[in-house]
Amino acid sequence: MNSFSKKISRLALSLFFGSLFSVPSSRALDNGLALTPPMGWNSWNRFGCNVTEDLVKSAADALVSSGMKDAGYEYIVIDDCWQVSRDAAGNIVADATTFPSGIKALADYVHSKGLKFGIYSDAGTMTCAKRPGSRGHEYKDALQYAAWGVDYLKYDWCNTGTENAQAAYSTMRDALKSAGRPIVFSLCEWGSNKPWLWATDVGNLWRTTGDISDCWDCKKGHLSFVQIADLQVGLETYAGPGHWNDPDMLEVGNGGMTTTEYRSHFSLWCILAAPLMAGNDLKNMSPEIKEILTNKEVIAIDQDPLGMQGRRVRKNGDSEVWAKQLKDGGRAVVLFNRGAFEADISVSWEDLGYPGHLSAAVRDLWAKKDLGKSAGTFAAKVPSHAVLMLRVTP
Ligand code: GLA
Repeated sequence: MNSFSKKISRLALSLFFGSLFSVPSSRALDNGLALTPPMGWNSWNRFGCNVTEDLVKSAADALVSSGMKDAGYEYIVIDDCWQVSRDAAGNIVADATTFPSGIKALADYVHSKGLKFGIYSDAGTMTCAKRPGSRGHEYKDALQYAAWGVDYLKYDWCNTGTENAQAAYSTMRDALKSAGRPIVFSLCEWGSNKPWLWATDVGNLWRTTGDISDCWDCKKGHLSFVQIADLQVGLETYAGPGHWNDPDMLEVGNGGMTTTEYRSHFSLWCILAAPLMAGNDLKNMSPEIKEILTNKEVIAIDQDPLGMQGRRVRKNGDSEVWAKQLKDGGRAVVLFNRGAFEADISVSWEDLGYPGHLSAAVRDLWAKKDLGKSAGTFAAKVPSHAVLMLRVTP
């Protein structure tokens, strides 16, 4: 073969293999949404299957009146149990007793408050609560959601039998795309098929674990926020603008833990750049819970535009240090005491990726207090189950 025909055959080979192995751009998610972790409210953690249009409307009202909307919460999401059947044409039908005005009217109401509206379905034949799933109806459902004005879809993984997760979620991604409305796509397959390895082009966020529970010492088989935080270690590099690891919705304010524990839960979720979906009864929330959920300096850590997920940089028994790089070159730091007694916890500049001599301003984000300048290390006493959350700025 002369050198010209060699070149031609190399080109032909690379075109052939290129088309085999590259992902055509039309298959990418590229919906331009969730450039910072989505924030909002979801009905499931507090209300389970007891969802009604009045409940959803009052959650939207409370999101505004509580100051949560001003703090950045945007999506009002109805989880499982809004749907009852399919009509003869295969259209999904909302429960007419609990949602008498219909889903379109509810979406309009949520939009009239300056908020966005989300809904839930499942990649299988039935949802986890045995309502109709979207299997085989993906394109019809996506069109229906777009017509209703849906802005966010949480898509579950119950009753999926032998379905392939990547294929099933990609089908719904393509259906949403062809429906033409920008819809945040939230994958909820509990980390079963390691979605962080394949879902960057499929969804805007993906659950990494089973369901969260509202307990510090949970019964066997129930995951506390602390156990879920452990399961995020190693997943940091997969998160970024438009595609986030989702350690599940917040339990803050649901009554099973102390205010201190809820503050720790919220702090860890923010350092993890987790989606912040409140899961409590917004209408009846105590001032302490509201203060946790609306702390703007803590939320700014979650929403930092660099979009880096924080990581655990040190663990000595029950004393942990978590850190997150911020766009301005600063670091958010959480000193977390999982133990039953007060502990001295320190963070070294080395753990933060800083030279030891660097002088940096340290601010306590819960006390909203500047703690002066430090270099080399910062140490503090941290009460049992509590955090000290800092912003360190060189
Ligand atoms: C699964 C999900 C939960 C919730 C329920 C609804 O368990 O992981 O977040 O959506 O289904 O049935």
